[in-house]
Amino acid sequence: METEGEQLCEAARNGDVAKAKALIESGADVSFFDSDGLTPLMHAAKLGHTDLVKALLEAGAPWNALSPSNQSAGDFAMGSGHQEAYEALLNAGIQAELILGSIARKTKKNGDFEGDYLEDRVTFSEDKLMDSDSKAVMMAWEKPLMEAHAKAVCSGGGNVLNVGFGMGLVDTAIQQYGPATHTIIEAHPEVYARMLRTGWDKKDNVKIIFGRWQDVLSKLESYDGIFFDTYGEYYEDLREFHQHLPKLLKPGGIYSFFNGLCGGNAFFHVVYCQLVSLELENLGYSTQLIPLPVKDCLGEEIWRGVSQKYWQLDTYYLPVCQSIEESE
Ligand SMILES: C[S@@+](CC[C@H](N)C(=O)[O-])C[C@H]1O[C@@H](n2cnc3c(N)ncnc32)[C@H](O)[C@@H]1O
Repeated sequence: METEGEQLCEAARNGDVAKAKALIESGADVSFFDSDGLTPLMHAAKLGHTDLVKALLEAGAPWNALSPSNQSAGDFAMGSGHQEAYEALLNAGIQAELILGSIARKTKKNGDFEGDYLEDRVTFSEDKLMDSDSKAVMMAWEKPLMEAHAKAVCSGGGNVLNVGFGMGLVDTAIQQYGPATHTIIEAHPEVYARMLRTGWDKKDNVKIIFGRWQDVLSKLESYDGIFFDTYGEYYEDLREFHQHLPKLLKPGGIYSFFNGLCGGNAFFHVVYCQLVSLELENLGYSTQLIPLPVKDCLGEEIWRGVSQKYWQLDTYYLPVCQSIEESE
């Protein structure tokens, strides 16, 4: 005898909206997982039954539930090319995150961690900077991405700000553009000490500000180019930083940030790319997301010794943000 949850999964597979609604009304659980670890919403999405996807979402089915292979209903719709169902799920995801913020706000760049990263020891090797839990703070595979970010934020010359030194990849690239001034904010004492050891404080145009960006805002001016890439922070922190852009970014200036938002899941990543673009738009900035293929830089051996893969997607979307007035 099938349970109501199983019957709902079957109705979802058959695209039977009337049956599904009747089951929901009689109390069937919309967040039921069947023996394959799939929800009714995943079944409907996979087969492109858009009306059923909408009915399930309206009844409160979780858009962000994950299957055993870490796929959400949106990933299934995307993978099977069901555009309408995909868009219904995307809208639901954006609405839910705008209101509740349930994924990236709780997921830091490289997973969750205990305690405060800034008080932890870090270790440097040739190709990575790691925290005390063997999570990568920064990895050399990101070098081409950092070079592209540097190019974007240096395109207007002038005064450039970078938040988060890490391995100094983006700062090395920024230096190549010879900006008039190059300000770097870094909060980790060991990363800061290494910056001094390697002579970053001796460079003519470089000004280092040691501290958390949240604590040193009063020391900042306004800039022609700004890049933001911290570690151990939440989406909320990025959002908070964005509230300061109208003061920090000169008219016509370019802002960019490391776009690792939900880098472990393709669909969640799309939701967050759209969410952050919407939030920046509300602050008066347009965001262009430039696709950069990264599949070839990411062999399995890259992650050896790293406890969490913070990026698993084939394409990186590099954000280039500019005031809407200037970009028109
Ligand atoms: C991912 S790394 C930056 C990598 C850098 N973009 C590069 O190209 O190598 C993040 C850096 O931000 C620093 N950081 C973390 N939280 C910070 C904060 N609140 N204020 C300033 N720096 C912070 C970390 O110590 C780390 O050095």
